[in-house]
Amino acid sequence: MSDSDSEIASSAGSILEDASEPDVTSFKCLFCEETYDDIKTMFAHVEAHHSFAILPTIKSIGTELEEIGVIKLINYLRLQSQAKSDPKDIRVTPEVLQDDKYLVPTLPDDPLLFELGDFMPNLESGNSKVKDYADYEAALSQNIPDEVGKAGMSDDRDERYFESYKGNSIHREMIEDKVRTEGYQHFITKYASLFKDKVVLDVGCGTGILSLFCARAGAKKVFAVDNSEIAKRAREIVRKNGYDNIVEVVQGRVEDFNTQRTIGTSKVDIIISEWMGYGLLFEGMLDSVLRARDLYLKPGGLMVPSHCMLRIAPVSDHDWISESTGEKFWKDVYGFDFSPMVPGGALNEHEVGVFDVSPKAICGEVSTFYEIDISRVTVEHLDFTAGFEITLAKYAGALNAFAIWFDTFFLPHDAMADLSTADALSWEQEGNEGTAFSTGPYGTATHWHQAVLLVGKDDRGRSVKAGSTLKGTVTYKKRRRDARGIEVEIRWEGEGKDGPVTGRVSRTMA
Ligand SMILES: C[S@@+](CC[C@H](N)C(=O)[O-])C[C@H]1O[C@@H](n2cnc3c(N)ncnc32)[C@H](O)[C@@H]1O
Repeated sequence: MSDSDSEIASSAGSILEDASEPDVTSFKCLFCEETYDDIKTMFAHVEAHHSFAILPTIKSIGTELEEIGVIKLINYLRLQSQAKSDPKDIRVTPEVLQDDKYLVPTLPDDPLLFELGDFMPNLESGNSKVKDYADYEAALSQNIPDEVGKAGMSDDRDERYFESYKGNSIHREMIEDKVRTEGYQHFITKYASLFKDKVVLDVGCGTGILSLFCARAGAKKVFAVDNSEIAKRAREIVRKNGYDNIVEVVQGRVEDFNTQRTIGTSKVDIIISEWMGYGLLFEGMLDSVLRARDLYLKPGGLMVPSHCMLRIAPVSDHDWISESTGEKFWKDVYGFDFSPMVPGGALNEHEVGVFDVSPKAICGEVSTFYEIDISRVTVEHLDFTAGFEITLAKYAGALNAFAIWFDTFFLPHDAMADLSTADALSWEQEGNEGTAFSTGPYGTATHWHQAVLLVGKDDRGRSVKAGSTLKGTVTYKKRRRDARGIEVEIRWEGEGKDGPVTGRVSRTMA
């Protein structure tokens, strides 16, 4: 994304501030219909008119009551009020507030729950651990249990990640990737009956394109969630196309409490998401999709897409490599040798390169090294070491690099399926159920290209025997302190001209 794009996006973002948000927040009394502009006055009213003193109640619970307990207390009191309990008879004990069911807001859109952070320092309780709003937020993320918790990542890296999705060009690039966008659209229209009258959650809706496809296919309700500023544009787009009665755009993380409050406790029938990054798992967005699945999807509900297969193939093509590393270019610059510039090239010995590899550079079979069944996989499975076995082509020579890509399958049910040898390019022609697309070198190029790991210089010239077997492992590991980055390592052993050949290459995507 260019700087100018992000400038345009930020100014447009401020123009598009949601005009429907009310300017004044009002706090409903815990026990009657009265509303107040500030929390303090509301609590004073509660004490004067309902003989219930909230601050002494909080203090009386003492050290047992952590910050999150105050949220539970509010929900508990509102429930008691709905059950017509007399405020004077309500007993609040630490045991009552152990129950996580009181984390679920009693009143939808209860602003009190979200403004409490500002109010907490007023408690003046020696027992309160809250010093400021940041403490309150931190307490919130620590204490909300997994099923209703907040996202773990809230560092600068994460902010930069969402910032990168607010501009135009990144969304245009994705929408213009026909393999991707038409891949999703094709599944939705081919299986429109699955979407008819269903409730759908679009995780990371971006401009809202997938949500609109679902709405057009007959979905009854679509929650379109995105934490980036692009959500404001999505809201405009949805409105402009007349789908605002179906698609509700929610700006926030899909895991967050606010989003959970909006989606409510009734579950969704389908979760759709385009979460795939370079090498499939770069960006770490699948973690959020799995969290959303566990929070919101009905048992037996559908994940769209349903499966991704990670494939690997060996690359042997000296010319292509020297073009991609820049060696060819820098070797002769107006008659000077500029080769010290080479290590900074796009294909280098540190990072995973993102390129389209020509099929003629592939020097062996394609092997599936990891299968992701999105209905069943857990976050723990996303750090893994998996094996591969490849028969090298007749013409195999020096092993220069490995190319990794993924194929995506959309099955119309959540049953288990073995897709390790399934060909995404001919999936439908072969009469299989569902749809598929490939991001590999044998299909139409996509914006994901392929992830290329250049073998180290010392190993790059070592020949492997044509027709022999290359065995190895691929390890994917999240980077420490950067859950969106990954480290990829490939180890292999094969037959060389003069005996066994082993090698190892480790590259980062950050
Ligand atoms: C690859 S884009 C896909 C955009 C859109 N669905 C499309 O198909 O054009 C992923 C989007 O997900 C959003 N996103 C990633 N993680 C998220 C999370 N945890 N909660 C909400 N939005 C998220 C990003 O801001 C980004 O806009």
